[in-house]
Amino acid sequence: MANPEHEDMIRRDVDTWNAWRQADPGVRPDLSCANLQGADLTMANLSGALLTGANLVLANLRGADLRAADLGGANLVGARLLGVDLVGANLSGADLSTAEDLVQDDVNEACGDETTVLPEGIARPAHWLAIKKVSLKAVFSRFVDHWQPRIVADIHGVQVKVVKLLGEFIWHQHEDEDELFLVVKGRLLMRFRDREIAVEEGEFLVVPRGIEHQSVAEQECEVVLIEPGTTLNTGNVRNERTVTEPERLA
Ligand code: NI
Repeated sequence: MANPEHEDMIRRDVDTWNAWRQADPGVRPDLSCANLQGADLTMANLSGALLTGANLVLANLRGADLRAADLGGANLVGARLLGVDLVGANLSGADLSTAEDLVQDDVNEACGDETTVLPEGIARPAHWLAIKKVSLKAVFSRFVDHWQPRIVADIHGVQVKVVKLLGEFIWHQHEDEDELFLVVKGRLLMRFRDREIAVEEGEFLVVPRGIEHQSVAEQECEVVLIEPGTTLNTGNVRNERTVTEPERLA
């Protein structure tokens, strides 16, 4: 847990905080799990600070010095990060989705891994991970909605996605892509115009390109999809169920 004096001081006034940091550079600030939601931390000297698990939702970190800070598991959703210095900062497990004004160069200088959630448009630096392990249980626990595929891996232009199904999807086909449906939990009924095939837990089915199909799940079903990255979930049909840019979970 955070040192309450440190947490109080930074919440009260960043100038006082910065003066203290300068006067006492040997102290490592402990703001782990601190609640700094919405705090104005403009130009704050947070170099080397312990910010693991801190709540920095919507915090203003413009120009903040976060060099070598430990932001492991911190929540930075919607945080403002213009001009932030992240050299050597740890972003493992940090959630930076919808963080504003973050630029690729800043992220490239930080350390992170497959558990770091980056805002749209920011790529995971190649040096962060050469090998990644993904827990299907963990990724399926991160969302509750249905028919919204999410990307968990890329393999030479092919993507691995996870999706929960419930009810009936629309009839569609993919002109150029084959789709693999691997059922992890539940039961998927795949309808074709001339037959239907039940795919049980632990089984998979490949729908070849050009074949019209409709997914049906009478009860909630968890599915891993393996298909080219160009595959649109609704294929040749575009409607409110079309997901043009699936979220990336890993
Ligand atoms: Ni399809």
